[in-house]
Amino acid sequence: MILVTGATGQFGSKAVEHLLKKGVNPTEISVLVRDSDKAISLKEKGIHIKEGDYTNQGSMLEAFRGVDKLLLVSSNNREDIENRTLHHVNVIKAAKEAKVDHIVYTSFVRKAGYENSAIADFQNSHVESENYLKESGIEYTILQNGIYAEMILAFIGDKVAETENILFPGGEGKASWVIREELAEAAAHVLTTEDHKNKTYSLTNTESIGFNVIAQDISELLNKKVKYTSPDANAFKAIMEKAGVPDMYISMFMMWGTAIAQQTMDKEDDTLSNFLNRKPTSVSQFIAKVYS
Ligand SMILES: NC(=O)c1ccc[n+]([C@@H]2O[C@H](COP(=O)([O-])OP(=O)(O)OC[C@H]3O[C@@H](n4cnc5c(N)ncnc54)[C@H](OP(=O)(O)O)[C@@H]3O)[C@@H](O)[C@H]2O)c1
Repeated sequence: MILVTGATGQFGSKAVEHLLKKGVNPTEISVLVRDSDKAISLKEKGIHIKEGDYTNQGSMLEAFRGVDKLLLVSSNNREDIENRTLHHVNVIKAAKEAKVDHIVYTSFVRKAGYENSAIADFQNSHVESENYLKESGIEYTILQNGIYAEMILAFIGDKVAETENILFPGGEGKASWVIREELAEAAAHVLTTEDHKNKTYSLTNTESIGFNVIAQDISELLNKKVKYTSPDANAFKAIMEKAGVPDMYISMFMMWGTAIAQQTMDKEDDTLSNFLNRKPTSVSQFIAKVYS
C-alpha cells in the first residue's frame, strides 16, 4: 500500500494522478486528507481516503497502518516555520508506530552556505525534518525539489503585459525552476521503482534561468519590450507599499528575491531528467504556455 499525504493539495493530487498513470491499482493507494469532502473524486476512483492532520500524531496512526511506502508532502503552514518541522516530526512518529517501511519526503533544493541565505529558516526546517527522518530508522528517500516554475508568476505578478516591466529584487540570480507536475511525476517514479532507499536526490532543471531571460522570453511572446528591474530592498519595499501590496507579500517577495539573488536555488542537475526519461519543461516552454 502506498499512502500520499496532502492529496487534496496541488502536488499530492498530481502525485496520485501519476501513480495511477504508472499502473498502480487504486485499491493499492491511500491518501491522508484533512477534509474527506475534498477527496470525493479520489474515492470514486477506488482510492482509500483517510482523514488525519499533521498537528495530531494520533489522528494519523490508523491511517498509516498497513502502509508500505508513504509520500510525505511537506507542510505549507505559514504561521510559523517551526510548525512545519513539528508537523513532519508528527507524521514520522506516527509512521514509525504504524510500522511504515519507507518514507519519501518532499524537501527543497539546497546548496552549501544555505545557513546564511535569506531563506535560512525555511531551509533549516527541511534540514531538521530530514535529520529526524534519517534518525527514525525508517527507510527514507529525500526529494530536494527545485523551486516551482509556477512561483515565477507569483513573483512577476499579472500586470507585466500592461506595465512592460518585471519588478523583482532577484538581481542577476538564476534558479533551476521546475514545474510542480514534473516533480510529482518524479515522486511517483520513486514510489514505483526500486533502488531509492536511503538516498537524497536534487530534483532540479538542467539549466538555471534568471529574470533577464524571463523578461526576454515574455517580450518575444508579447511582441513588446519587457524590462527587468531589480531595485534594492528599501526601494522595492517603498514601491510595493505605495502600490498597496500587503506587508506579508512584500516580505515574502523580498525574502525569495534576495535568496534568488544569492544563487541559493541555482543548482543544475540531471536526476529529474533521468527519472522522467525526458528533459524537464524549460522556463521558456513554461512561459510560452502561460502567455500564449
Ligand atoms: N518547491 C517549491 O517551490 C515549493 C513552493 C511552494 C510550496 N512548496 C512545498 O511543497 C508542498 C507541496 O506543494 P503544493 O503546491 O502541493 O502546496 P499546497 O497545494 O498548498 O498543498 C499542501 C498540502 O498540505 C496539506 N496540509 C497542510 N497542512 C496540513 C496539516 N496540518 N495536516 C494535513 N495536511 C496538511 C494541505 O491540506 P489541505 O488540502 O487540507 O489544505 C495540502 O493538501 C507545500 O506544502 C510546501 O511545503 C514547495
